[in-house]
Amino acid sequence: MPTAPSPKLSVPFEQGGPSTQILAAFEAAKGFMPVDEGLALYAAAVEAGRLGLPLLEVGTYCGRSTVLLAAAARAAGVTVLTVDHHRGSEEQQPGWEYHDPETVDPETGLMDTLPTFRRTLFRAGLEEHVVALVGRSPQIAAVWNSPLGFVFIDGGHTDAHATADYEGWAPHVAEGGLLVIHDVFPHPEDEFTGQAPYRVYLRALESGAFTEVSVTGSLRALRRTGTGI
Ligand SMILES: C[S@@+](CC[C@H](N)C(=O)[O-])C[C@H]1O[C@@H](n2cnc3c(N)ncnc32)[C@H](O)[C@@H]1O
Repeated sequence: MPTAPSPKLSVPFEQGGPSTQILAAFEAAKGFMPVDEGLALYAAAVEAGRLGLPLLEVGTYCGRSTVLLAAAARAAGVTVLTVDHHRGSEEQQPGWEYHDPETVDPETGLMDTLPTFRRTLFRAGLEEHVVALVGRSPQIAAVWNSPLGFVFIDGGHTDAHATADYEGWAPHVAEGGLLVIHDVFPHPEDEFTGQAPYRVYLRALESGAFTEVSVTGSLRALRRTGTGI
């Protein structure tokens, strides 16, 4: 069993935050990310954007985090790719704690967060900076073959999903690029959706390919400093 790395203070990247308009759009969007983690995500994306490569997110949901990534991409002159089948994760289905009945399509009876995501981006004025990839993350990763400056993993929280996201997307993080993982909870009692993101985070550190650069709440930013995953 791997040992947990020692706790660190948050080490924010050095640059200004998003505009008040972008922050308001983030806060108005449906989603689960608190403001402090959003600011850290934005800062990491701005920094990674300097590589001039696309930024990629797994787990669009209704676009809350995408707003910040799109604003960072706009500043850097790059594009955000955001991957989601828009049918929701396990814990977002009817009867589960994170279910929002407004996300259900009355015609199909299934969750469909794509229309809300599109409205979020439209309202934020950021549509042109984002390409939405609608489908299953491993299926899209299987046909992906170019380097990325930034990969943000915030998709399914089972071990199968989190591992597939790591194995599918982390190989594409360019040297010096960032791998950011959400919902990393070292203590099992802190999160009922489980510790799969934490196990993926430990795996990334133990691979020797990634070095931790920032810790904010449950958000971890790792820089590629070696090869492999
Ligand atoms: C926690 S939510 C993302 C939250 C979003 N990043 C935010 O800040 O509001 C997780 C999303 O991952 C999507 N998802 C889960 N497993 C997936 C998979 N295998 N492929 C594509 N999307 C997936 C779900 O549909 C859900 O919208």
